[in-house]
Amino acid sequence: MSGKVLDELEKIRKQALADIERASERDFDDIRVKYLGRKSRLTEILKTLKDIPSEIKPKVGKTANDVRKDIENSLNKRSSIITGNSMAAKIETGSEDITKPGRTARLGSKHVITQTIEEIVEIFVGLGYRMVETGEVETDYYNFTALNTPEDHPARTLQATFYLEERAGCGDERTLLRTQTSPAQIRVMENSKPPLYVIVPGKVYRPDVPDPTHSPMFHQVEGFAVDKEITFGDLKGTLEAFCEKMFGAGRKVRFRPHFFPFTEPSAEVDVSCIVCGGKGCRVCSHTGWLEILGAGIIDPNVFEVVGYDPEEVSGFAFGMAPDRIAMLKYGITDIRMFFENDVRFLEQFK
Ligand code: PHE
Repeated sequence: MSGKVLDELEKIRKQALADIERASERDFDDIRVKYLGRKSRLTEILKTLKDIPSEIKPKVGKTANDVRKDIENSLNKRSSIITGNSMAAKIETGSEDITKPGRTARLGSKHVITQTIEEIVEIFVGLGYRMVETGEVETDYYNFTALNTPEDHPARTLQATFYLEERAGCGDERTLLRTQTSPAQIRVMENSKPPLYVIVPGKVYRPDVPDPTHSPMFHQVEGFAVDKEITFGDLKGTLEAFCEKMFGAGRKVRFRPHFFPFTEPSAEVDVSCIVCGGKGCRVCSHTGWLEILGAGIIDPNVFEVVGYDPEEVSGFAFGMAPDRIAMLKYGITDIRMFFENDVRFLEQFK
């Protein structure tokens, strides 16, 4: 007799636990009634304990109570898991070790190029410049024609410019990825009147084969000023002030004659080496100077294109590559490092 009751109790336990395992929230009441209710087999067994022979009574009584507790516990556990209290349940069952050290969140940071651009822009904003951004897809007109660049200029070739799909007869409307931020000069001047003091950061594109000093995408920061009686001296003073703020006190600036279609005269601008201070080192190829900018006085032809009177206003413009500045500043010898997005490299600039 006792064997039979004990077997039955085990069967009840097994079946109840299996039902609970599969149960969803709305099954709980039914399960409770079925296994623990007044009319359940378990309750019946407990009620008839008194009729059981006294030698086996304790054993049957204990097992029946254990089964009851087991069913109650697993119902509670299952219900807390389902009702979103799963962490409590995990802790209770020991399946979650709450003494484990937590996962540390990795904090991101601004890309070193972004940091450099912001540094440059902030300096000019401090000098009264307004920041403007224009599009990376430009037309032939804004990237070249309006910037006084002749039809047969080498920069316009397929080797030097990424053209977008060509439509027959689109001429100046032909679209391309801007090769420089200078088209922003035209876009801003077209839409506003002097005085203008503007700084324009952005991405530019040229179909160069990637190597340590070339990347098909890089960045430029364009700056320009248009006002009454702006002179080359203003350009020089502005760039000197910028270099002091950007690279530290005592930096010297040197202008070398150069050519750009949209400035006349034009210059390439060097800063005394930011590593050796001008004594000569590997970074400056022992010259003491680093080339960081192109600049010049805005060509009267450009003013005519945007409807300004070159007799009334004058201006200067400059363009620099923050990628190059960051390379010099941090001693990076391969521009491609910036764009490979290797976190181990980027983390150094947090
Ligand atoms: N746009 C020129 C370049 O990409 C740089 C420049 C800007 C030169 C403004 C003069 C004035 O090389």
